[in-house]
Amino acid sequence: MEHLISLKEWSPEKIRAVLDLAMDVKIHPEEYASVMNAKTLLMIFEKPSLRTRLSFEAGMTQMGGHAIYYNTSTSPMGSGKETISDSVKTASRFIDIIMARLFKHEDLLEMAEYATVPVINALTDDSHPCQILADLQAIEEKKGRLAGLKLAYLGDGFNNVTHSLMYGGTKMGMHVSVGSPAGKDYSPRTDVVADCKQFSKESGGSIFVTDNAIEAIKEADVVYTDSWMSYHIPKDQEAARIAKFMPYQVNAELMAHAKPDSIFMNCLPANRGCEQTADVIDGPQSIVFDEAENRLHAQKAVILTLCGSV
Ligand code: CP
Ligand code: NVA
Repeated sequence: MEHLISLKEWSPEKIRAVLDLAMDVKIHPEEYASVMNAKTLLMIFEKPSLRTRLSFEAGMTQMGGHAIYYNTSTSPMGSGKETISDSVKTASRFIDIIMARLFKHEDLLEMAEYATVPVINALTDDSHPCQILADLQAIEEKKGRLAGLKLAYLGDGFNNVTHSLMYGGTKMGMHVSVGSPAGKDYSPRTDVVADCKQFSKESGGSIFVTDNAIEAIKEADVVYTDSWMSYHIPKDQEAARIAKFMPYQVNAELMAHAKPDSIFMNCLPANRGCEQTADVIDGPQSIVFDEAENRLHAQKAVILTLCGSV
């Protein structure tokens, strides 16, 4: 049984195949209009979502299948009345594929262990691989390639999107630089950095982590940021985090250090005035809505791959 738990486990060849399929699905959606006929996706949510829920659900509809939105706040699993293993073993008897957006990554691993259908990570506190597949597709569309490009991530380095971006970028031969405050609560996990060094050796890419925002963004082809207040961060940390991350805010002054033809990305939701200013996210270099759209195409490609429908 194949799952999408993290891009760490996916080979560059696998990522390449899914990106190619995502492009074909995007260009020829009519050819995939019935490939998931009579198939059902279970969508388990512990956290809020706009893009993930809509793109997975619309994607299944467009491929002739069906998606069930299942919020754990109204389930026996969420209230602790039923174990994760019993829940997914049961669900696997009704449905064909599961996606889950959870707090604890270990809970996702447990789902994958006991489900008898494929499981997709739709974001945990650890990682967000679906987002990064869509991002890589968007970068390739805009820049014509991935390998050799400099991708600079600014802001919260101890972050699910950052870690997945580091995995995906280095696996595809990109030069990934992360500019974030020093300290284990703000900079990328050391095990992720170590893994990405190894992936870079194999792909010709590189990984570079610094607390110097200008050094991180210098001559970047792609500038990326994410919320400073991820879904799992308690509200009472907001003021302290804003103060900590403000030197990494992507504004016009910082963008001036990237290449003039650089593109700006944010997985969204975005907070104007925090991780980037309004002029950047609403300006000509921003591709955030093309990026968001690709969630639909990339996830269709993931579903088809894991279900063996291509
Ligand atoms: N980027 C992303 O996953 O958005 P949602 O939280 O709206 O799903
Ligand atoms: N890092 C963010 C991503 C949201 C899509 C979060 O976990 O909330």
